[in-house]
Amino acid sequence: MNFSKFSEKLPDMSVSVGNLTLSSPLMIASGVWPHEAKFWREPYTNGVGAICSKGLTRHPRPGNKGTRIWETSSGLLNSIGLQNSGIEAFVAEELPEISGNQVPVVVNLAIETLEEAEEGLILLKSAKEHIAAIELNVSCPNVDFGGMAWGVSEEGVAQVLAATRPLWEGELWVKLTPQVSNLVDVAKVAQEMGADALVVANTWLGMAIDVDRKKPVFERVVAGLSGPAVFPLALKCVYEAAGAVSIPVIGCGGVSCGNDALAMLLAGAVAVEVGSMLLHDLLCMAEIHDQARRKLAEWNVSSVRDIIGKGRSEGF
Ligand SMILES: Cc1cc2nc3c(=O)[nH]c(=O)nc-3n(C[C@H](O)[C@H](O)[C@H](O)COP(=O)(O)O)c2cc1C
Repeated sequence: MNFSKFSEKLPDMSVSVGNLTLSSPLMIASGVWPHEAKFWREPYTNGVGAICSKGLTRHPRPGNKGTRIWETSSGLLNSIGLQNSGIEAFVAEELPEISGNQVPVVVNLAIETLEEAEEGLILLKSAKEHIAAIELNVSCPNVDFGGMAWGVSEEGVAQVLAATRPLWEGELWVKLTPQVSNLVDVAKVAQEMGADALVVANTWLGMAIDVDRKKPVFERVVAGLSGPAVFPLALKCVYEAAGAVSIPVIGCGGVSCGNDALAMLLAGAVAVEVGSMLLHDLLCMAEIHDQARRKLAEWNVSSVRDIIGKGRSEGF
């Protein structure tokens, strides 16, 4: 059998997110991937279009006390609390390690105060050639100040973009929280205020009780739920957001196999982030990529781009 001929026919997996071209629609979501060079190369980057950094803040944060991760029957609760070494250390020590490898770096900037976000962006500007996009995180549920408080209202999202958009000429994405009754209105405001793309969405609020201790598991009681449990919820958010805005939507939430990724794309996402599944299997991206590509080949589709939004009405 002529394998080279067969491989020539494999569907093209490259996609565009605004001005950015990615070799694969699959990205590693923020918070699940170490800032260590060896994880930003093969084999870990097989099938990966881009990797999002851990949520970064202007100043270092130690993260939350107590239990930080709790497995549920079909998902994961986390209360990491944005543990990170701060933007200065990221730019000086971590970004040189992880950039220049095989995969574009998306910087997840966690919004605390507007002043700190502005200062953070100015620091990041000094390294802008190493940054493919900034993902504004207005949706972290695990902090007492800022975080998803910004993302739950149209005003909050508008304020964040009014402060940050003028400071960043490159791709500026906004990662929304699903914990709103008006996701579509928030998405529209983000577009009006100049976001280049939307990431839909961050984790959902949940909690766990440790029955043996008869107490909530987490110090802050509530935590962020992710993983397969949230996939249908996130898919609905993606479908709604993609129907409401003309900027690209990146799907995120519970993706664990090729069919999940394809469903996100069919719903209108141009790319897909994967988080919790990587805590289960560090090499799952290649598998998800190959499953999706094989299905596209079965459908006789020559490019993954051809299916984006095609599950919304007309099919293909
Ligand atoms: C352990 C852990 C840490 C996370 N940290 C961040 C973070 O720093 N910034 C952020 O925007 N999202 C963070 N997230 C949310 C993920 O990026 C993703 O939006 C969410 O988990 C849903 O995707 P998934 O179901 O594929 O995990 C974190 C998720 C987990 C599980």
